[in-house]
Amino acid sequence: MAKADNQYKDGDMLNALNGKNLINPSISNLPEFGPKIKLGILASGNGSNFEYIIKAIQSKKLNAEISILIVNNPHCLAIKKAENNNIRYEVINHRDCISRDQHDKLVINSLLEYSVELVVMAGWMRIAGDDLINKYKGRLINIHPSLLPSFKGIDAIQQAINNKVLITGCTVHYVQREVDSGSIIIQAAVPVNEGEDKNTLQRRIQNMEHIILPAAIAIVAKRIRTILKDKKYF
Ligand code: GAR
Repeated sequence: MAKADNQYKDGDMLNALNGKNLINPSISNLPEFGPKIKLGILASGNGSNFEYIIKAIQSKKLNAEISILIVNNPHCLAIKKAENNNIRYEVINHRDCISRDQHDKLVINSLLEYSVELVVMAGWMRIAGDDLINKYKGRLINIHPSLLPSFKGIDAIQQAINNKVLITGCTVHYVQREVDSGSIIIQAAVPVNEGEDKNTLQRRIQNMEHIILPAAIAIVAKRIRTILKDKKYF
């Protein structure tokens, strides 16, 4: 392997989306790869992104299976969605752990137990620690509701409104140590309407998230099946 894991721009794979990745990516034309990739999804909240990954798999647009959903919040709605779709899930509550490291270790153990190849932080409101980042280097991705590098960290949508930007959006990126800073895989732009409140802007951004996250998974899965194929993970 010539480059560090998170250095690839995936330009050739983005081209497979016909250049639509910049503003309005199309899910109808995802990169193809095989065999099926095993996903581990990390979620803390409503799980709408999780749900759209399930839909992309069910409609055969994404050649993947969800091996495990891990949630850190026992009350999050993502659990219901896992139950409705017969997807295995595990609650690993960070409040029961004495440190971030301990929580990360439990998460890693679960991902290993289910032979997860690609880890997707889909509304995971936790900062990934070094162990998780290193173990899944180049195979750990996150979705964030802004056009990174603008508006990193919490409440990105409110940050965009406060800064009166005309365009914001969403980004899927590889996870590295600095929060919301890894190489960008795919982005979608969302214009901000005049006087728009956070709720409607959030809804419009999430509509785009539901398109770009499955696309990003396909892009990274193809890379795992081609560029990283000789690497031994387990
Ligand atoms: C998404 O909008 C995602 O971008 C955001 O949480 C939401 C989860 O929604 N993630 C972050 O803010 C991470 N910094 P969901 O639970 O309905 O998928």
